[in-house]
Amino acid sequence: MRYIPTLERSQTDVSKADGEFANAVIEGLSRVQKELPCRYFYDARGSLLFEEITRLPEYYPTRTEAQILSVAASDLVADFSDGDLFVEFGSGSSLKTEILLDRVETKIVYVPIDVSETALADAAVRLAMRYPSLDVRPLVANFSEMKGLPRDLSGRRAVGFFPGSTIGNLAPVEAEGLLAGFKRILGKDGRLIIGVDLKKDERTLTRAYDDEAGVTAAFNLNLLSRINRELGGTFDLRSFHHRAIYNSDAGRIEMHVVSDRKQDVRVCGQVFHFSDGESIHTENSYKYTIVEFSDLAVRAGWRPERVWTDTDNRFSVHHLV
Ligand code: AVI
Repeated sequence: MRYIPTLERSQTDVSKADGEFANAVIEGLSRVQKELPCRYFYDARGSLLFEEITRLPEYYPTRTEAQILSVAASDLVADFSDGDLFVEFGSGSSLKTEILLDRVETKIVYVPIDVSETALADAAVRLAMRYPSLDVRPLVANFSEMKGLPRDLSGRRAVGFFPGSTIGNLAPVEAEGLLAGFKRILGKDGRLIIGVDLKKDERTLTRAYDDEAGVTAAFNLNLLSRINRELGGTFDLRSFHHRAIYNSDAGRIEMHVVSDRKQDVRVCGQVFHFSDGESIHTENSYKYTIVEFSDLAVRAGWRPERVWTDTDNRFSVHHLV
C-alpha cells in the first residue's frame, strides 16, 4: 500500500503479476468444472469493454445506481464533518463518486483505493480540477488485502464507498469476509455506502449479461485473448462462445465460455482438453433481496441504517453503520 503523488502519471500497475495470472489460469483449467477468476477480465481492452457494458440499454445496474445515488446523495453525505475520510474501495475512474462529492459541503479527505496507478492518477487529476478544495489521497493497493488505512489517516471518522454491486462478484461467504474487512479498515465509527443489485425476473437479468450488440460476449471472450497474448495460449476464439445463465438456486448470474467442438488448447506448455459443449466458468454475479443483503451485512458486524431503491426495485444502495 502506498500513496501516489496526486498530479503524477505512471505506467506501474500492481495487478500485472504475470506469475500469478499464469498460476491462476493453470489451476482453473485443471479443475473438473474449468474456471477462471473474473478479476482477470480487466486488462486494457477488458476495462474498455466493461465501460461499454455500463452504457448498454440492457445493462441497467450502472445507470440505476447513479439515479439512486442522485436522489439519496444529500442524505448520504449529510453527516460528513471537516476532516472525515471518504474511502472508495476499487475506485477506478471515480465517476459515481462525483454524484456524492457534488453535495459535500465540508472539507473531507477523499481516499480512492485501486490497484491501477494509472486509473488513480487520471481520476485524481480530474477531481482536483473539479473540486479545488478537496484533499485527495490516492492509495495504490488491493483493498481486499488491506489491514488498515495508512497511519497518518488513522483516528479519523471514515465513510466507505463500494458502488457497482462489485460485492456480487464474490460468493456470499467471501462477501461477508470482505464486509468484515471493510469494517476493520474503516474503524469503530465507520460507515459504508454500498451498491447491491437486486433479484428480479430472469429475462431482465439474462439480457443484462447477454446483450444484443454482443459487448458482454466480447468482454467474456477477451479473457481467452488475454491468455493467448500474455501466456502464449492457443485458444481459437472462433470455436468458443459466450453463455450467461441465471442459476436461481444459487441466486446468481453465471458467465461461461463454451467450446463449440472437441479440441485441445495449450497454455504455458500444458495441454487442456475440451469436449464439445464443455465450458469454462468465468464469472458469478450474485443478486440479493434487501433482506438477504441486510442479513449478510449484520453477520459481518454492520448495522443496516437505511436502504434506497429505484421505483422498479432493480438496484439498492445500503447505508451501513
Ligand atoms: C463488475 N461487476 C459488478 C459486473 C457485474 O455486473 O457483475 C461485471 C459484469 N460482468 C458482465 N457484465 C458486467
